[in-house]
Amino acid sequence: SWVTLAALVFGYFAGSIPFGLILTRAAGLGDIRAVGSGNIGATNVLRTGNRWIAAGTLLGDMLKGTVAILIAGHFAGPAAALAAGGGAFFGHLFPVWLGFRGGKGVATFLGLLIGLAWPVALSFAAIWLIVAWLTRYSSLSALVASAATPLILAAVGEYALAALFALLALVLWLRHHENIRRLLAGTEGRIGDKKRGAG
Ligand code: G3P
Repeated sequence: SWVTLAALVFGYFAGSIPFGLILTRAAGLGDIRAVGSGNIGATNVLRTGNRWIAAGTLLGDMLKGTVAILIAGHFAGPAAALAAGGGAFFGHLFPVWLGFRGGKGVATFLGLLIGLAWPVALSFAAIWLIVAWLTRYSSLSALVASAATPLILAAVGEYALAALFALLALVLWLRHHENIRRLLAGTEGRIGDKKRGAG
């Protein structure tokens, strides 16, 4: 319906706000796209050495998805909430403001989970933290946590959400193709390893 379409468009514009770019610029850190991996996400913002701006990026990129879902759900119901969430994810990855070159979707994926299935968001965060603690690879942590998410959703009987997050995880993996190549080659930068970066 047109309401679902409107929710999708609303979600897209919410998701297209590039918090990493805006916050690093506001903090006088220059253009984040010229740092490390060139990505606009919290992991790359951390490579500037500013933890607060990195945390703000994580929160902003996460909560824009959550807020889009809550607003659309409040005014137009569950189908609109799903549409707004999907729109926010694609807005983050393909923002019109940045020539459709946006982020890799990890924080926004988590933000959608918070809005749609918050207990599974806790599992995502736990898996991310465990893999990050073991390996110090942000990208690998995101790849494992995102792949586990549809399986967990299916295990608890949330089949529609499992299908949605399987699609989002697939796109997230495709978006990490350079990280996957570096992980396999052993050249991926680790969290806290500013010198090597990831680029
Ligand atoms: O959130 C993106 C992360 O998984 C990888 O970021 O900057 O290391 O490519 P980056």
